[in-house]
Amino acid sequence: MKITIAGQGECEFSDEFSLLDCLDDAGIDIPYSCRGGNCGACEVRLLSGEVEWIQDPCYDVQGKDILTCSVIPTSDIEIELI
Ligand code: FES
Repeated sequence: MKITIAGQGECEFSDEFSLLDCLDDAGIDIPYSCRGGNCGACEVRLLSGEVEWIQDPCYDVQGKDILTCSVIPTSDIEIELI
């Protein structure tokens, strides 16, 4: 599945544990801290596509925002750093 990061580039998700791992492996400069859904540092806006939550975050996300450490894509997606 193709991941497009607005203004930053693209990468391909295969079977990484999380979207964050995929972005990290691709060398995308993406903020994160806890990797466990607690801090909100990895929050990005989902512009298009679908994701599945793989862990239940303590951090409360707003609207269409997602935590890259806590989701995997289930379609091609486009995200924007916020
Ligand atoms: S890195 Fe802390 S919520 Fe994702």
